[in-house]
Amino acid sequence: MPTIVSPSMLSANFANLRADMDMINRSEADWLHCDVMDGTFVPNISFGFPVMEAVRKICDKPLDVHFMITQPERYVTRTAKMGAMMMTVHYEACVHLNRTIHQIHEEGMRAGVALNPSTPVAMLEDVIEDADMVLLMSVNPGFGGQKFIESTIRRTHTLRRMIAESGSNTLIQVDGGVNGETAPRLVDAGVDVLVSGSYVFGAPNPVETISKLKSLLPA
Ligand code: DX5
Ligand code: ZN
Repeated sequence: MPTIVSPSMLSANFANLRADMDMINRSEADWLHCDVMDGTFVPNISFGFPVMEAVRKICDKPLDVHFMITQPERYVTRTAKMGAMMMTVHYEACVHLNRTIHQIHEEGMRAGVALNPSTPVAMLEDVIEDADMVLLMSVNPGFGGQKFIESTIRRTHTLRRMIAESGSNTLIQVDGGVNGETAPRLVDAGVDVLVSGSYVFGAPNPVETISKLKSLLPA
């Protein structure tokens, strides 16, 4: 399966989102990654529904929404109404994760579960079959442009084994510090979906940078 690329809008130019969405539309990006932060679950506030609703109208790619907020279950219906394809919630933010995943599915979206770098991958053992995607955070969530945490490679291998043992088709997404050096290693380790913010939007030629990520195959 070719690598799925989901550029993170967090590193776009918010004063000219239309230009950046035109770039995304022209590119080989598969999805658009949207980072919602509440200033409580993570020490930063990003953007919310009004911005994503506007972007939805000018972006041709499916929205891959990553909620870094407490009690994300409060927004399942709203996220579906907005037209998101994927709703990813944090394991650490959901007391009733099984119920939340089912709510996301009932609303017609794909369900992702995100893990902070310090949360053992094994915590997902009883959830893996229900989730469409697991997002391994490769930085502490909250900001773009941070350094990749190396243990993500080992965590990807562990998760890959767990998914194979469960016999499910759950995708593995990695988010944070994905660039020309880390992306090939992640794809080799079994990552299906690469999120990339500053590396893509800060590149001299973002369309070409997306194509390069897209063409990565496991060695
Ligand atoms: C971080 C966000 C990421 C962020 C990644 O909390 O979840 O999606 O945009 O940015 P880069 O690719 O610059 O590390
Ligand atoms: Zn993210």
